[in-house]
Amino acid sequence: MTQETNRLAEIPAAEPARQKYFIRLLREQVDAMSRKKGRPLTCFISTFGCQMNARDSEKLLGILLDAHFVLGKDERSDFVLYNTCTVRENANLKVYGRLGYLNGIKRKNPDMLIALCGCMMQEPEVVARIKKSYRHVDIIFGTHNIYKLAELIYERLMTKHMVTEILDGTDEIVEELPIERKYPFKSGVNIMFGCNNFCSYCIVPYVRGRERSRNPEDIIKEIEALTADGVVEVMLLGQNVNSYGKTLKEPISFAELLRRVEQIDGLKRIRFMTSHPKDLSDELIQVMASSKKICTHLHLPLQSGSSRILKLMNRRYTKEQYLDLVDRLRAAVPDISLTTDIIVGFPGETEEDFEETLDVVRRVRYDGAFTFIYSKRTGTPAAAMEDQVPEEIVKERFDRLLKEVQTIASEVIKRHEGTVQEVLVEETDTHEPGYLTGRLSGNTLVHFKGDPSLIGTIVRVSLDEAKGFYYMGSLKETD
Ligand code: 5AD
Ligand code: SF4
Repeated sequence: MTQETNRLAEIPAAEPARQKYFIRLLREQVDAMSRKKGRPLTCFISTFGCQMNARDSEKLLGILLDAHFVLGKDERSDFVLYNTCTVRENANLKVYGRLGYLNGIKRKNPDMLIALCGCMMQEPEVVARIKKSYRHVDIIFGTHNIYKLAELIYERLMTKHMVTEILDGTDEIVEELPIERKYPFKSGVNIMFGCNNFCSYCIVPYVRGRERSRNPEDIIKEIEALTADGVVEVMLLGQNVNSYGKTLKEPISFAELLRRVEQIDGLKRIRFMTSHPKDLSDELIQVMASSKKICTHLHLPLQSGSSRILKLMNRRYTKEQYLDLVDRLRAAVPDISLTTDIIVGFPGETEEDFEETLDVVRRVRYDGAFTFIYSKRTGTPAAAMEDQVPEEIVKERFDRLLKEVQTIASEVIKRHEGTVQEVLVEETDTHEPGYLTGRLSGNTLVHFKGDPSLIGTIVRVSLDEAKGFYYMGSLKETD
């Protein structure tokens, strides 16, 4: 037996031991290659899409750094990974464009490795296209096996062939692998994976699989470790956090999970996303109202204000139910900031339907909204619907909606002008030297003069002037 086959015979079967083993093997390879090159090997991850992907990228980077890669500045790195999104067609097009650009870089550095992962890779047509037309890609994997990064790179180095591993789904949740956080003082925390809702336009349930909740004990343990490491704010992440815990052996509600997270010493702020309106319980509203740590912000995707379109979207609430929910939230948490997602141009959307959306926007008066042009995703029920709305009409509605949303947001955000509020300081201001940028509990950004040593702390700031979607403020001396 060669030394290599000997080693492969020792591979632990169970996770995370198996991955820890492959991280060690990869580390030896990375060390050997850097000795040969006389410099460390660099890595670079580019993340597309949502907060889930951002958190996945922290896990991927954790593995790479543990295997002795160092952080590179850009795509001229030895290992480049695109963590992709496929929620709208545009995201896919961007990746193909960037792959063309990477080809040129790889010609200059033939040892470079290019890897692709994330939601787009869960689509068989995408993988077929990459295998055919983008032969310079080395590793392709999906959303269910990101924890295997070290094993996949190791396999690529040993076989020298393109490595592809896409799983259709998984029940496995692998804990305790290294994670490299982007911010030392705040962190996303996955509480569940996948989605069971099958909104008719959305590809997420197909690429992220069925809903799986993490055990509450694992979540609490992770947050305790994070707070011990300096984290003061967590964002609990899931495609639909309101259905958290329903499929666990010992079911618990999301509201109950929040009560337990609230107890963690040292933790100052709790956020969560995303909430599906159909599952938002009165119990959750009560927990939000009585909590000292849950931020006064809720992202509550509307998608459309027309009950007829909502039915076609399979959202399972009506315009009236959504508005009633907003009333109940505001009654319990008067100062709450509401943000939303809205899709314009869903198949069959008429001018009257669109007016209903504008009507909800005017009644709710959101602090902010992400507005999207409907994008046809192959394989979803909406892609087969007749009456796709002509592009010019969609564009015109989109512009009207955006204007309405922005005008209202700039008025709504003004409501705190002249008050003093707590701000979590996040970074130095990228535009104004000497200034810092932080966030209110309601999620609005505030810029103010201050010393970078304040980053990661909560300070009191006077909100002097609202400027559209942010504030200019001044630091109040703390006593
Ligand atoms: N087209 C446009 N927007 C979409 N979203 C999800 N699928 C589509 C689609 N096919 C939007 C929804 C969701 C957000 C994350 O992306 O508004 O809330
Ligand atoms: Fe997509 Fe609907 Fe699931 Fe959100 S809740 S990820 S929009 S299917």
